[in-house]
Amino acid sequence: MHLELDERTASAEAFMRRILRDDAPLAPEYPLVFDSRFDGRVVALQEGDAVRSACAILARDFVTPNGTITGGMIGSVVTDPEWRSNGLATRILVEAEAALQVDGCGFALLWAEEPGFYLRRGYGPVGREVDFVLSYDMVESLPAPTGVRAMTDADIDAVHALYTQHSVRLARTPDETRALLACPQMTRFVRERDGEVVAYSCMGRGKDLADAIHEWGGAGVDDVLALLRANLEHRFSTETAEDALAKSIAPDDDLRFLFFMAPPAARELCERLEDLGAPSSESMLGLAKILDRDVVAKCVDGLLGPRGTVEALDGATARGYSVRGPKGEALVDDEGMLAILLGVDAVSGDVASFFGELGLNDVALPLPVFAWGLDSI
Ligand SMILES: CC(C)(COP(=O)(O)OP(=O)(O)OC[C@H]1O[C@@H](n2cnc3c(N)ncnc32)[C@H](O)[C@@H]1OP(=O)(O)O)[C@@H](O)C(=O)NCCC(=O)NCCS
Repeated sequence: MHLELDERTASAEAFMRRILRDDAPLAPEYPLVFDSRFDGRVVALQEGDAVRSACAILARDFVTPNGTITGGMIGSVVTDPEWRSNGLATRILVEAEAALQVDGCGFALLWAEEPGFYLRRGYGPVGREVDFVLSYDMVESLPAPTGVRAMTDADIDAVHALYTQHSVRLARTPDETRALLACPQMTRFVRERDGEVVAYSCMGRGKDLADAIHEWGGAGVDDVLALLRANLEHRFSTETAEDALAKSIAPDDDLRFLFFMAPPAARELCERLEDLGAPSSESMLGLAKILDRDVVAKCVDGLLGPRGTVEALDGATARGYSVRGPKGEALVDDEGMLAILLGVDAVSGDVASFFGELGLNDVALPLPVFAWGLDSI
């Protein structure tokens, strides 16, 4: 079998739609990949004109209060069922990683329902996300949703401005925000006060993220809580039993709940929801793999300041990184550096001790990277 690599989006989009969506539209859900105005694209392995395996890729800048690093998103990895277990997804992943490296990405990030495939290919858990369960029972304890209304196109500049106030986010242009807010099957609300949009929320997005409030913004915690109430009321109090049945939700109060996703940086909001009794769990943000040691070494070196240095080692005898501080030097491999750069919460104490032993205290690592729901591809 002779397979060629292609980045023509149209045939790959038809292929992905067929396999992943039963031919239902896919492109409107992922405008940054499929709309030619934006940088995302598809990597596909084809035999003649027939696509056999493909995935979507998109380079993004991950903004945190400690610094910004460029990473590559990978999504919708898929092989034609007739062609599975021939190593095609393994190959497409290698091609996707190489293309993202050319785009300047230090690491690749993806979400996976079945992590094993990626864990066996050099990926590891990174980042943190807090997920709350919001029950309809909570409605009365949330602020009244005065001034909450459906988002219109006229609100989008204000919504983009609120998005850019997040301390952890992916950098977006106003046009990217506009395109993402047009994703189908999404309930979009804003809260307005004195003629000004002060908060917004997005619930649902295509097939994924149904029943999840996955993106929101606004400086006032009460404004966001009022939006959560509006979403619960919109979703459940007006729903007829028939609608509920169609969505497989029994008209039973116990089953009337939504999910709410937040970065741990939204501390005050998370504490308020915990005080209100909303169950929560913390999970990883996704799976990541280092793609470019130089990009990563430069980023970490910059975060250490003048006290320490990081150098990428790409020689025949040593691959990885040399980390130096006032008290000594340590050699780190890619797995260790991934934990240092983006690690999950469980390793942050180990990262601090690692730097402490080198005489480097108060290092702002791991970076608290976070991607909002509209950024998934
Ligand atoms: C997961 C998937 C992309 C693998 O494609 P592939 O071309 O068969 O992959 P490869 O031949 O390179 O490797 C086969 C791997 O898939 C695993 N696999 C086989 N059947 C599978 C299945 N039905 N579902 C998931 N993984 C499967 C094998 O265990 C093997 O992994 P391993 O080598 O680490 O043990 C393919 O099964 C698929 O398209 N699944 C549906 C879409 C999907 O779940 N995509 C993931 C979205 S992030």
